[in-house]
Amino acid sequence: MVELISGTEISKKIQAELKDETAQLRTRGITPGLATILVGEDEASKVYIGQKVKTCERLGITSFHHKLPQDVKEADLLKLIDTLNKDSKVHGILCQLPLPKHIKADNVLLAISPDKDVDGFHLLNMGRLLSKKSMKEIEQEKMYLPCTPHGIIQLLRRSNVNIAGAEAVIVGRSNIVGKPAALLLMAENATVTICHSNTRDIGEVTRRADILVAAIGKPKFVTADMVKDGVVVIDVGVNRLPEGLCGDVDFDKVKEKAKAITPVPGGVGPMTIAMLMLNTVKASKKLSGC
Ligand code: GUN
Repeated sequence: MVELISGTEISKKIQAELKDETAQLRTRGITPGLATILVGEDEASKVYIGQKVKTCERLGITSFHHKLPQDVKEADLLKLIDTLNKDSKVHGILCQLPLPKHIKADNVLLAISPDKDVDGFHLLNMGRLLSKKSMKEIEQEKMYLPCTPHGIIQLLRRSNVNIAGAEAVIVGRSNIVGKPAALLLMAENATVTICHSNTRDIGEVTRRADILVAAIGKPKFVTADMVKDGVVVIDVGVNRLPEGLCGDVDFDKVKEKAKAITPVPGGVGPMTIAMLMLNTVKASKKLSGC
């Protein structure tokens, strides 16, 4: 019988831990604050930002939301980030991606202070992650881990999946998910392979996986013939089809072969938000000298 790995349930536990922590911090005069920036009218981004703002409210984190028009000048966005970098009530800054084409996302991510980079997307934080070899080193560094890859690790750990020594295959090589997920899984002592759109005979590679992470952004891309019996599947995809949301995995068929699998929705998504809240609480402590 396949185990459903519920990101909703696991994230609820993490959020409860964080709510207790923010209550404790408040007694010491520290209220964690997260600034979110949404540029334009992308419907999916509006939903994600709305979820982030609501979760902040629930956990006792102050939310400072900034909505900018689609045609905002890059210089004005950078000016806002500069103001937020200097605001002592703001501990974390998140600019929702994707940005309109006339704005260079690299410039925006670099402008966010590395100390407030709760997405973990600043080159300094990415470099810090790249330079660490073990989870112990990563955890000692008090650095901000990218939220989705960190959420994947927490899902696996909290579902008692053996990562050390496992063959982990990641489908997708993005900076946001695929590449950092590979680094974290390596730090957890998995043997990691990344596949992408140019991989020859992708099924031959994915069938080796004990742990398969699908993050390629193509609905139902991973089919049952691409996995081996007993695989643990983490589906990062969120694809909007006329019939509703679906992941990058053909869930109904793949679940018949898997030992454990995440649903979409209710899998990785809630964990990304929980890890963002975790980073914001961490930032509030770091910036308050705790
Ligand atoms: N767009 C999709 N996922 C993310 C994320 O984790 N952070 C930001 N800033 N934008 C995103």
